[in-house]
Amino acid sequence: MKILFIGDVFGSPGRDMVHEYLPRLKEKYRPHAIIINGENAASGKGITEKIYKQFMELGSHVITMGNHTWDKKDIFEFIDDAKNLIRPANYPIGTPGKGLTFININGTEVAVMNLQGRTFLPAIDDPFTKADELIEEAKKRTNIIFLDFHAEATSEKQAMGWYVDGRVSAVVGTHTHTQTADNRILPNGTAYITDVGMTGPYDGILGVERDAVLKKFLTSLPVRFEPDTNGRNQLNAVLVTISDDNGKASNIDRIIINDDHPFFS
Ligand SMILES: [Fe+2]
Ligand SMILES: [Fe+2]
Repeated sequence: MKILFIGDVFGSPGRDMVHEYLPRLKEKYRPHAIIINGENAASGKGITEKIYKQFMELGSHVITMGNHTWDKKDIFEFIDDAKNLIRPANYPIGTPGKGLTFININGTEVAVMNLQGRTFLPAIDDPFTKADELIEEAKKRTNIIFLDFHAEATSEKQAMGWYVDGRVSAVVGTHTHTQTADNRILPNGTAYITDVGMTGPYDGILGVERDAVLKKFLTSLPVRFEPDTNGRNQLNAVLVTISDDNGKASNIDRIIINDDHPFFS
């Protein structure tokens, strides 16, 4: 089982990259399942039903979210009907949506879960004990379990990787928008990367238009953050190879597409 995971898609530049490169990535890597983090897909903040449907039409299987889940009001209208959209599972009980879903790939079930860190992010329930709960639930149906851990702190992400090593197939970090080079298979068979990176503006600051971010740092005045639509774009992803039999990962490769790392099919 090969799973392609595309990191935080940011605004129209990110969606354009998905439209342009997803078909080419499919042709090159032949992934069985495609997962996209869509927390920034609508103008950098949240997702709309229209964008969710576009991602599904392009062949993705699951959309994961993060701390920007609720930024577009539209989400409350469709999240409970969006079978393949998940938000961090460790939001308090009663929050709309869900944090675990199952997809069926040619008769093989894959569990996909989304959790959010608590370090340098708004208060939320404990992601570690929630991970235990979700793993127990998922294991009733499959050994192939994929976790998008949306968190800021490298230490918290590494801690999660080691905590679930051997119990889930892959832990991929999202949220920092910058790909880390620490992709590895942990000793008990869990694929791990601290952050997959983002998909969208390449010349902005974490996707945001540069001048606004610089103004914020230089003056501390309130500024409006918009996606940088004037520069070049990038796509960051990982490809994880997992055994259908025991759910252990054998490989996690980083994928980077930008002007400095062009795509070769
Ligand atoms: Fe993000
Ligand atoms: Fe985030």
